[in-house]
Amino acid sequence: MSGKGSHIVLIGFMGSGKSTIGKLLSTHLKRPLIDTDLEIEKSEGRSIADIFEQEGEVYFRKIESKTLQDALQSKEAAIISVGGGAPCFLQGISYIKKYSFSFYLKVGRSVLLRRINGDKSRPLAGDKTKSELKQFIDKSLREREKFYKSANQTILAYDQPEMIVKRMLKYIDKEQI
Ligand code: S3P
Repeated sequence: MSGKGSHIVLIGFMGSGKSTIGKLLSTHLKRPLIDTDLEIEKSEGRSIADIFEQEGEVYFRKIESKTLQDALQSKEAAIISVGGGAPCFLQGISYIKKYSFSFYLKVGRSVLLRRINGDKSRPLAGDKTKSELKQFIDKSLREREKFYKSANQTILAYDQPEMIVKRMLKYIDKEQI
């Protein structure tokens, strides 16, 4: 999809602000918001944490991939916020690149650590000590950044959400996305 009215996909690590930014962009642009984690929870009737615990990560990645592909095939141009792993498994980034314009919301390790430390709703992070989490973030970022960085546009996402969205809207308007 290209030109005005493309799907816009937000990618980035857990805690980078995808859900918050997604909601704001959806409101400003009057386009529907699809949050793949929420779609998965709806279709599975259980939380992401329960899916990981009861079925394991491989099962989750398959559902996540299907949910992402369905979202990208939806008719109306949407804002699609995806889980942190979605671009990095089962060719997620290829689908994102093919059917949308993508933004990578980039923040550094210390901000990510502050935001996700102790968050039990995040199965990959919730049960880790602070120092385990630091190592996990470093390792995951090393593995994942190549996928994240291939987004169409990288946005430094340290500001308040409204400020970040303002910058994105300027870009979206200029590029007629
Ligand atoms: C994951 C990120 C989560 C969720 C799942 C796995 C990941 O989404 O999809 O817990 O692998 O990074 P958020 O990035 O919205 O927290």
